[in-house]
Amino acid sequence: MEPLLKDDFAQSKSKTGEILGEETEGVNQILPHMNRWAWDLYIKGAANNWMPTEIPMVKDQQSWKSKDVLTDDERLVIKRCMGFFAGTESLVSNNLMSLAKWITDPECRQYMARQMYEECLHNHTVVYICDALDLDVNEVYEAHINIPAIKDKDDFLMASTANVNDPHFETKTIEGKRNLYKAAFMYWIICEGTFFYSGFAMLLSMSNKIPGIAEQIQYTLRDERLHIEFGTKLLNTMRAQYPDLMTDQLEDELTQIMQRAVELEVAYAHDVLPRGILGLNADMFLDYMQYIANRRMEGLSMKFRYPKDKNPFPWMSEKVDIKKQKNFFETKVTDYQSEGVLDDDF
Ligand SMILES: [Fe+2]
Ligand SMILES: [Fe+2]
Repeated sequence: MEPLLKDDFAQSKSKTGEILGEETEGVNQILPHMNRWAWDLYIKGAANNWMPTEIPMVKDQQSWKSKDVLTDDERLVIKRCMGFFAGTESLVSNNLMSLAKWITDPECRQYMARQMYEECLHNHTVVYICDALDLDVNEVYEAHINIPAIKDKDDFLMASTANVNDPHFETKTIEGKRNLYKAAFMYWIICEGTFFYSGFAMLLSMSNKIPGIAEQIQYTLRDERLHIEFGTKLLNTMRAQYPDLMTDQLEDELTQIMQRAVELEVAYAHDVLPRGILGLNADMFLDYMQYIANRRMEGLSMKFRYPKDKNPFPWMSEKVDIKKQKNFFETKVTDYQSEGVLDDDF
């Protein structure tokens, strides 16, 4: 039989490859490939299978019980990071469900379904860590209400979720497509691509004291990098498919959103690190968030850059390389990776 996987630009009577088509219900016709990049990311994601409960938490539990190992400031970092992830990882899942109604390309939908599963694992990670350390569940899960620096970030994100769920939302007009682009920018580039990174850096800086948490964050970070790559390619493909979509006004608006996100993230870092820990202080996160923001804007070919383009945590890219870290952590071998997808970029 003739293989079906042979042509990214095959002709099809019933498939166009358009990201925001008219059809929001019905069957998903994956072949012939028309957005092969989305399919390839789905394959990479599937090669990254992992499960939070397979990562031992014994050392973390010992550290949590000992006042000599973890200081009060370090405990605050762990609790705040869990509080932020508890709210925001669930928000990401909900965002994907909202967007799935509008993003009609079957290969993109295949990737998004995979991403939803990975977000379930990230939610599971928070539950698993809460259970292992016997954290105050209300303190963690109500942080998005009670901790101003976390509430501000979540409120900022939720405003755009409300837009997509508005009964008058549509993607048929160019204005509607712009609104979808803005929401996707908010979800993949701001929420996952910017807001998560300070928490990752804070927890990974304590790897030797909390190896179980750190290993779960490494797997989460590896997943998130693919999510950001998907979001970036989705936005760039939309821009190519709808040449009237991007305007100077929209680019200005998105740039202001990114600048506001960086401000909120730096305020969060000051709240979480009032005195600094292990060589980290809140001011370093200003540099870090500006560096990350520059990478995100670059990925989308947007003009804005922060002038100081410096990564204060070059060790972060090392931490993503799970194979190199395994001996360091001395944890159970959980190397599920079967393909080389750990590129050294952000
Ligand atoms: Fe996630
Ligand atoms: Fe994600």
